[in-house]
Amino acid sequence: VNPTYQPIQLEAELTAVAELWSPRVVAELNGQMVKVAKLKGEFVWHQHDGEDEMFLVLKGAMRIQFEDGEVTLRQGECFVVPRGVRHNPVADEECWIMLFEPANTAHTGEVVTARTRSLAEQTQHRREAG
Ligand code: NI
Repeated sequence: VNPTYQPIQLEAELTAVAELWSPRVVAELNGQMVKVAKLKGEFVWHQHDGEDEMFLVLKGAMRIQFEDGEVTLRQGECFVVPRGVRHNPVADEECWIMLFEPANTAHTGEVVTARTRSLAEQTQHRREAG
């Protein structure tokens, strides 16, 4: 049996996430990062000028606020925020999500906040695991 044929255990990956709003990279493909994160509360208004951003809710529910409305995503639902559109993710209760973004996307967009995590921070556990 080829040992590389292993599923990515999303529940275990998310259980290992201790910090809210801190994305954890679980896979990459075609220059895109697949990340998981735990959300609760309000994030920060920001935009990504060059990249679209996909949110997929794995557990719970979240809202994405826009300047002219908002979308609510429940478990099993996803949404792509178009590039250049200002948005603010909000989770009224703890929510587990998967994100798809190009490797060069800053998750807080053009805004640097206390919640901003570098890609090195988002992938640190992968180097530790070897
Ligand atoms: Ni964003």
